[in-house]
Amino acid sequence: MGKTANQMLVIFGASGDLTARKLVPSLYNLYKANQLPENFVVLGVSRSNLTDGEFRKKVVLESSYLENKVKGDAEEVITTFADKFFYEDLGDDYSKEYSKLATRISDLNSKYETGENYIFYLSTPPSLYEVIAKNLSEQHLNNEKNGWKRIIVEKPFGYSLKTAKNLNAGLQKYFKETQIYRIDHYLGKETVQNLLVTRFSNSIFEPLWNRNYIHHVEITNAERGGVEKRGGYYDKSGALRDMFQNHLLQIVSLIVMEPPIDASALEIRNEKVKALKSLRIMRDEETLFKNTVRGQYLASVIDGEKVKGYREEEGVDPNSKTETYAAIKFYVDNWRWKDVPFYVRTAKRMPTKVTEVVIHFKSPHHQVFKNSNLKNKDNQLIIRIQPDEGILIKFGVKVPGQGFKVDRANLDFYYSSLAKNNVMEAYERLLLDAMQGDATLYARADEVEAAWEFVDPILNYWENGPDVNIYGYSAGVWGPTNSDDLLEGNLRWRNPGENLADDPGFCVIK
Ligand code: BG6
Repeated sequence: MGKTANQMLVIFGASGDLTARKLVPSLYNLYKANQLPENFVVLGVSRSNLTDGEFRKKVVLESSYLENKVKGDAEEVITTFADKFFYEDLGDDYSKEYSKLATRISDLNSKYETGENYIFYLSTPPSLYEVIAKNLSEQHLNNEKNGWKRIIVEKPFGYSLKTAKNLNAGLQKYFKETQIYRIDHYLGKETVQNLLVTRFSNSIFEPLWNRNYIHHVEITNAERGGVEKRGGYYDKSGALRDMFQNHLLQIVSLIVMEPPIDASALEIRNEKVKALKSLRIMRDEETLFKNTVRGQYLASVIDGEKVKGYREEEGVDPNSKTETYAAIKFYVDNWRWKDVPFYVRTAKRMPTKVTEVVIHFKSPHHQVFKNSNLKNKDNQLIIRIQPDEGILIKFGVKVPGQGFKVDRANLDFYYSSLAKNNVMEAYERLLLDAMQGDATLYARADEVEAAWEFVDPILNYWENGPDVNIYGYSAGVWGPTNSDDLLEGNLRWRNPGENLADDPGFCVIK
């Protein structure tokens, strides 16, 4: 791993939830693992009136998100970490000029020798990205003459193709593309990165990774929870914008892409863009009707406990048509994937929390073992993103006894068996990468726009199409039954269980 240069992390929107919940715990992990540079300062910036001391208390010393992590650590270790945090009140508006902020940054830089290397982390609504970028540039805080300057932006990156393009153009007016880091926390997950390693470091998968051997690809992203306290945000977003456009299409791009020339950010991201651009965009209403299903969870009782329906959630319009379930079938128009259907679904209030990719292989083209009961027992490669992270291969074995009866057996690998290695949390990994200037796991402007190109017509159809339905499903089931109609022939979704090797349809509700 490269050396991390001395630097300052300036977090906009620092009094918000993300800083205390994700960023500070990740920084603490890096600190404990000796991964922070020798000279390192965090400057929180937002509109709350806080002193340095109050900010330290809020995000470090009295933070419930850090409570477990600091247990057993000496007080001196914790206070040395807390002392790296400072706070600057921006007053009532992010759009006012930043000369006072610039002076504070400059003072901290001189005192703590951070080499004029700055990361600006925008944990604010996207509507503020451009104005913050502009104000920073007016103070020459985008200028890399002395020390580098980087800007990290959070999702949602746009609400549509048009807004995403505007956001990109707005940021690129003041920062070069190489200075912009668009975060997608799924790319920080080890198991998502492992998709690349599984494909390109083995000679046993890649030769089969194409239309000749793969029948279809299935991706499930399910969450047990509902919208919780984020009803206001979610109701304007929905499953397609919240999860599919970003996290799931990132996973799709890693499955679809061609082998990159090397593992550099440039080559990997070039291939990902090409992959996203090859998704067949659905434009006519009939295709959109046949290949997309949206649903919304209804009240139900799970394990004796009443669970609210989506429309009863705080911040949600009681007549809302926002989807909490989205299932999309699509094709990839290129040499490798011609005619292979991809089935991707994402939803809240499912029976369990799970994200997995299933590569379904074709049946052997000549059946030697007739009457072997081989139907529905084709080979599958299941890549479990979370939880019970691992890889499972399903293959046929002979049932002992007379004749040739075939059953399906499991060959499995679990990440937990590599427990010796410290598995970094997503934000920890992504922060460290940005601190070291490695953008491989960040989304580039053209990637984000290519993903929106695919999603935009679906959203437009769902909003304005003449015969679009939103199907209800009881909280705690695998979505509306209509989504089964998406699947060709006798195919069925692999409704995964809590554990990787659970068989389809089996899932214990806790
Ligand atoms: C976020 C979405 O990006 O990802 C949330 O906004 C969702 O709605 C979350 O719950 C899921 O992330 P993970 O890592 O728990 O799968």
